[in-house]
Amino acid sequence: MFVRVRVPATSANLGPGFDVAGLAVTLYNTFTFELTDGGLEILGCPAQFANEDNLTYYAFKQAAEHVGLSFKGLRITTAGDVPYTRGLGSSSTCIVAGIVGAFAFVGRQDDRQDILNVATKIEGHPDNVAPAIFGGMTVSVVDHDHVTTLSLPIAHDYRFVTLIPPFTLSTEKARAILPTRIDREDAIKNVSHLALLTASLINGYDEGLRLGFKDRLHQPYRGKLIKNYFPIMEALEKDQQILGAYLSGAGPTIMVIIKADDTMGVVRIKEELGQLIKDWKVEKLELDTRGFVCDFL
Ligand code: HSE
Repeated sequence: MFVRVRVPATSANLGPGFDVAGLAVTLYNTFTFELTDGGLEILGCPAQFANEDNLTYYAFKQAAEHVGLSFKGLRITTAGDVPYTRGLGSSSTCIVAGIVGAFAFVGRQDDRQDILNVATKIEGHPDNVAPAIFGGMTVSVVDHDHVTTLSLPIAHDYRFVTLIPPFTLSTEKARAILPTRIDREDAIKNVSHLALLTASLINGYDEGLRLGFKDRLHQPYRGKLIKNYFPIMEALEKDQQILGAYLSGAGPTIMVIIKADDTMGVVRIKEELGQLIKDWKVEKLELDTRGFVCDFL
């Protein structure tokens, strides 16, 4: 028997919701798991990841221990479109898939709450794994070992124009640059922006989004690590049809929100940004509302 798990890409932080908010988009990685008589075999990923340190394997092992699954050997096959180290939750797809794979072999693949608790422990924060598990836009609170997540109803049909640069930025480096202490004024700004953003997305109050996506906790610092980040954000600010823009997760991808009926949005954004995004990949995505999908083959 094989277990197959498809996990969506995710975009974390949504500007002010650092380590709290995230959303799933229609870009996917797929993993299959097969228990074998011995050894580890990992197919479909670059050679440097096909070993015992593989993140999907690590998550599978942690989850197997958690659910009491014993196994002799494992074959993992991976495929998909989520770019690596670009701020679109590729690590979370590996973690969630590994956990769901192990849970599925004991019939617990639908226990999304426990999958979330294990995934958050491995990832260290819930903002990517939560939407990868539940779909939609999520907000999460971690309290000791328990994570409370809500997948929020979003009133409007938005599109997510994803600007993916040709270069990578490791989350480790992007976290290391952040100050360990923050001003009260910055904290108040972020709390108010996240409250406005959440209420605006639920109520379809488009006028609240642009201000709602503003952040003072991480983007001003991380922007310095990303070529053309500030001129790109400045150019996007001038386009009145754009609803908002933010750094996706730890970056370097930039996410731009437009309305579904703004059918010329991608063409216009490419024209406006021109040379600033030369060699960047631009993809128009939708919100994934399902989270991971698991089946048996
Ligand atoms: N909230 C995380 C960060 C997401 O911004 O560092 C990336 O893992």
